[in-house]
Amino acid sequence: MAQPDFNDRMLSLGLARVSEAAALASARLIGRGDEKAADQAAVNAMRDQLNLLDIAGTVVIGEGERDEAPMLYIGEEVGTGKGPEVDIALDPLEGTTLTAKDMPNALTVIAMGPRGSMLHAPDVYMDKLAIGPGYRTGVVTMDMSPAERVNALAAAKGCSTEDITVCVLERPRHEDMIAELRSTGCAISLITDGDVAGIIHCAEADKTGIDMYMGSGGAPEGVLAAAALKCMGGQMFGRLTFRNDDERARAAKAGITNLDRVYTRDDLVTKDVIFAATGVTDGSIVAGIKREVGYLTAETILMRSKTGSVRRMIYRNPV
Ligand code: FBP
Repeated sequence: MAQPDFNDRMLSLGLARVSEAAALASARLIGRGDEKAADQAAVNAMRDQLNLLDIAGTVVIGEGERDEAPMLYIGEEVGTGKGPEVDIALDPLEGTTLTAKDMPNALTVIAMGPRGSMLHAPDVYMDKLAIGPGYRTGVVTMDMSPAERVNALAAAKGCSTEDITVCVLERPRHEDMIAELRSTGCAISLITDGDVAGIIHCAEADKTGIDMYMGSGGAPEGVLAAAALKCMGGQMFGRLTFRNDDERARAAKAGITNLDRVYTRDDLVTKDVIFAATGVTDGSIVAGIKREVGYLTAETILMRSKTGSVRRMIYRNPV
């Protein structure tokens, strides 16, 4: 029987509900110091809501391998099975520690596209580089050093390197990179977690003040960030990095043969996708969950790459 097409317009509202449900479920765990409980609440709600959608969905970026994650594991089939065959990348709670500590920019994130639209990224690190829209292709590249990237971006923007802000995950592995960036005089916005948000910030540089993102973080998060940038515009590059044979084996299992490949945004996400993220804690992309007596309010950003449309939706839900 012929499969129904991936109707991104019709499915997008359903996707927003999935992302909203996860954020609302984790609301009562914001600032409670329990990462695991916050993540579990988001996972349960996201999975329940996802299973209501008329899709034949497969999780390609999820909570982990089947033996590590009982729910929303890689390869899990979700949806009613009655609709189009789609691939799903998700992170029910991007920033579990941010949520547990009530720090900014925790999000629930999900992207959906036709079968075969997203790289099946293994759970290893990815070296990432991203800038927002409006620059010529390749103005910054993975081959450039961090300082060269700042100089090139400043020249393209027509400003001094001191007017460039680079977002970086604060990790010991980034110390040399940070020192080199400092030598250019640029500003560095250090984040403790949440590089999906860090990369999305580049697409709204006027609002967020972030011009460029660089450094290594989770490869699955890299695919989610690429899906967002495909909708909002902007360039992104990613290269998988491996610390040991076990990680190389994970790549082989995911069907990746060229371990040194530099993926562009459109290699990470090859077809048109839809993307939704809901704020858990306040951030510059969307507001976090607000609690009033009798109500919870959530803000969701919902985007489609086919049209480049970006919607922000406020949902007030009685509790
Ligand atoms: P969690 O939400 O799973 O805690 O991940 C948060 C995160 O900061 C990601 O945004 C990022 O890609 C990754 O962890 C970085 O990994 P590490 O903490 O090992 O440097």
